[in-house]
Amino acid sequence: MTAAKIDTGLSKSERSNVAGELTKVLADSYAIYLKTHGYHWNVRGPEFFSLHNLLEQQYRDIWGALDDVAERIRALGELAPQGYATFANLTSIKDGDPEKDAQAMLDDLIRDHGTVIGTMRDALTRADEAGDDVSVDLLTQRLAAHEKFAWMLRSSLGSR
Ligand SMILES: [Fe+2]
Repeated sequence: MTAAKIDTGLSKSERSNVAGELTKVLADSYAIYLKTHGYHWNVRGPEFFSLHNLLEQQYRDIWGALDDVAERIRALGELAPQGYATFANLTSIKDGDPEKDAQAMLDDLIRDHGTVIGTMRDALTRADEAGDDVSVDLLTQRLAAHEKFAWMLRSSLGSR
């Protein structure tokens, strides 16, 4: 079978550069998804119900976005990474710890949202330089979501 040409107005190197950045975004997003879902299960204390529900809203949103990011990588002509070990090698976000108390869990997530946001900003810069408006749009939406999640977690701790 002959290989079909990818003609989207972006060069091969632009596409693979942006896809490489999106791969890091996907890995960070997967890691914070897993941690948020785990803390939804294990959070304890007087605020259990509201935190359990807040974390559910957040992990559901992040879960939905994983597919969008992976499929954007495919649309750019690259393969999406898959598998725990592969993702673990691509992210600096560590596994959650179910023994932590509620405050430490939220502190942990707030720090990780900062990591995700930093990765997304780097990817956004790269996508913008390449003129890849579709990736810029996706990353802008994901940045807005993670900034909002970090705000909600900070507010749950009584800080700004
Ligand atoms: Fe649940």
